[in-house]
Amino acid sequence: NGLLILILLCSTRRRQKNEPPLDKGLIPWLGHAFEFKKDAAKFLARMKDKHGDIFTVRLAGRYLTVLLDPNSFDSVLNDPALRHNRIQLLQSIFSLSLPSIEPATEKKWMEQHFQGVSLSRLSRAMNTHLKNLLLSDHKGCDSLEWKTDGLFNFCYSLLFRAGYLTLFEKEDNAAAVYKEFRTFDSLVTKLARCSLKQEERKTANLSREKLWELLSPARLNGGLESNSWQQKYVRFLQEEGVDAEMQKRALLLQLWTTQCNAGPAAFWLLGFLLTCDEAMDAVKSEIKGLNLQDVSPQHPHINPLEALETPVLDGVLSETLRLTAAVLISREVVQDKILCMANGQKYHLRQGDKVCLFPFLSPQMDPEIHEDPQIFKYNRFLNKDTKKDDFYKNNKKLKYFTMPWGAGRNMCAGKEFAIATIKQFVVLVLTHFDLKIDEAQGAFKLPPVNPSRYGFGMLQPDGDVQVKYKLKRRQHE
Ligand code: HEM
Repeated sequence: NGLLILILLCSTRRRQKNEPPLDKGLIPWLGHAFEFKKDAAKFLARMKDKHGDIFTVRLAGRYLTVLLDPNSFDSVLNDPALRHNRIQLLQSIFSLSLPSIEPATEKKWMEQHFQGVSLSRLSRAMNTHLKNLLLSDHKGCDSLEWKTDGLFNFCYSLLFRAGYLTLFEKEDNAAAVYKEFRTFDSLVTKLARCSLKQEERKTANLSREKLWELLSPARLNGGLESNSWQQKYVRFLQEEGVDAEMQKRALLLQLWTTQCNAGPAAFWLLGFLLTCDEAMDAVKSEIKGLNLQDVSPQHPHINPLEALETPVLDGVLSETLRLTAAVLISREVVQDKILCMANGQKYHLRQGDKVCLFPFLSPQMDPEIHEDPQIFKYNRFLNKDTKKDDFYKNNKKLKYFTMPWGAGRNMCAGKEFAIATIKQFVVLVLTHFDLKIDEAQGAFKLPPVNPSRYGFGMLQPDGDVQVKYKLKRRQHE
């Protein structure tokens, strides 16, 4: 009965004066939940066409106000009446609860351990691991034969293992963790939306338990004295009063946060380069012009990319992320609030609702901001040979013209490390390997996006695309 009353109450909501357009959908209580789960980008684009830059939709009994005007984003990002709340996500995906940790304390810890001195140390270690893995994976094939692999698997597997070795420093199980992680990662969106079928739930639970075990601090190389990023994180959790069980689970959260984006980003970047000769030539010629002796095996501990300017590669990365990074920035409305838009309009938000930004639709894919937004243009973020950062909407220069890294309290703490990592990977692959399309597969086309991942950070392809690669001749001499 309680449920029925709740359903009726939710169904009777009416738009009040000064509230955003309300779209409850036709299905009682559920509203638009199915369409949203299936392809959030398509659904929100449809709502934007119907209602404009701000609207409220009903999703499984809850009301979500979506703001799609980047000039107005700061009114959401900087407001204390709108709270960033990830308790439910941590519970449903990782079975994790960390009530004793203040989000601001954790954020500070993350920044300390991914920026400044930590950043140089980590990116040097990452460079060494990437190089070792790339070259050792191909040691056996000293012939000059082409190898075939799926590009997504090639990128994800290498970046994941190198990232794991850099942060978790457990050499004995990197390959096993990667394999198990891919099973878990493929079910993450369903875990978050509580939409697993019975068999999938079993697989997800089993996979999560295997990963907890594989990551468990007791199995670490070097025992508790070791000074890896992971060990420092466990000590941080202990100081914050987190018990052993939750420490174990928090490690999977961090494995996912730190490893689920770079591999897919590198995949799209190399994929776009393979579809566009002009871009590939521009990147290769920029790399050729760099003084790269330090990336050679003789100097494994120096990371020259930190010091060298690579505007073309930087622009290609920005353009890649514009097309394939799709975070949903969501806040709880903790008290009634008036939202002021950049155009002067004011809207009332109700306590208990959620408000969210979906920068993938605007600014990233907004035709008013980026011409032909569906198309990869390698020099979109490039002036002659410097970074281009002036983009406009309604004649107003935009602060947020692409937002792959989130913003405000949702800003990626590992941004600099991720950029250094992806650039190192691309430079290593393009200098050490010949990489080309596998013509046997017919015309080269990037696979479509898996639509269930909109809202979860980097997009992933539905399927993979085959490429051929071999070590360049000089590597054998
Ligand atoms: C958070 C994007 C790679 C570490 C985030 C968030 C975004 C993001 C959008 C905010 C999520 C939210 O609050 O809803 C990306 C992208 C990456 C990337 C696009 C690669 C292309 C990395 C890497 C690391 C990292 C390589 C570290 C090794 C973190 C951490 C947070 C975070 C620790 C949580 C920050 C906090 O809540 O304090 N990332 N990320 N990220 N990212 Fe990244």
